[in-house]
Amino acid sequence: MPSRMIALTVNGRGREILVKPKATLLQALRELGCTDVKNGCEKGDCGACAVLLDGIAVNSCLVLAGQTDGSEVTTNAGLGTIDHPHALQEAFADGGAVQCGYCTSGMVISAKALLDRNPEPTESEIGQAISGNLCRCTGYGQIIQAIQVAAGSQRRGEE
Ligand code: FES
Ligand code: FES
Repeated sequence: MPSRMIALTVNGRGREILVKPKATLLQALRELGCTDVKNGCEKGDCGACAVLLDGIAVNSCLVLAGQTDGSEVTTNAGLGTIDHPHALQEAFADGGAVQCGYCTSGMVISAKALLDRNPEPTESEIGQAISGNLCRCTGYGQIIQAIQVAAGSQRRGEE
């Protein structure tokens, strides 16, 4: 099968890219310069490549790029900026939930998807939501706490 051109909206910006039939969304996003989307395992085990695909959190290494034509993709970088960080990004940075940072983008995306559907998650619901995201540095405690802090800020309208 030949390569095909697909159109995506990535973090609000229209992009086009020629993809091979077996290219993954992860590969396409990296090629488009989304370096916040990490390639950890390429088999769905680590969550480092998580993005929102039309609002749903997916491991982009498990999605064929060719199937995403016309979709909207949001990566961690699309949630906020250094000057105007998302509540989750702020809570992760302030709460020591980022160490090497490799897992962070995927964690934030999984947490965003959780808070979008459940603004007041319990600790166990947070644990479940990030169960597909591996972190080899933090021991998860600060990450769970940061998500709780961000949920509280969002509920108080401080986002
Ligand atoms: S790189 Fe996609 S889940 Fe690990
Ligand atoms: S901060 Fe290093 S893997 Fe999570």
